[in-house]
Amino acid sequence: MSKEHKLTAEERQHLIEAACKARERAYAPYSHFSVGAAVLTSKGSMFTGVNVENASYGLTVCAERNAVAAMIDGRENEIRAVAVCTLNGVAPCGACRQVLSEFAPPGSAVPVWLIDSRGNVRETTLSALLPDKFVAGDLP
Ligand code: THU
Repeated sequence: MSKEHKLTAEERQHLIEAACKARERAYAPYSHFSVGAAVLTSKGSMFTGVNVENASYGLTVCAERNAVAAMIDGRENEIRAVAVCTLNGVAPCGACRQVLSEFAPPGSAVPVWLIDSRGNVRETTLSALLPDKFVAGDLP
């Protein structure tokens, strides 16, 4: 279990700003729905991702999963907090909930901040977004 301590207001703000800044770099010429995501790790690093669409629509990769890919590439694997910035402050899709949850420290309540283009922030948690998640221990 990771050492959990409450995030400071500065850490929260920093993560939110990173997600919203990342959103400007999204590649979304088909849906025009730009998404920026940022994860804060238990070591205090931050990784961002944006959605990357494709003319072959189904190959699109969401911002959250690209943020996770950047985290893994940075040799980290424990998520302490997530921020996702969209036009309307919506929650991550089901696939991204599952992928983010893979890296939630066991028993922890990982905060997820959902930000809209006006800067309104809604708070939830990974476990609220994906209760009864499928985990490594479910594999025989
Ligand atoms: N999208 C994300 O990046 N994250 C989500 O959790 C939901 C959807 C992207 C994929 C696509 O580029 C656009 O939003 C519209 O579905």
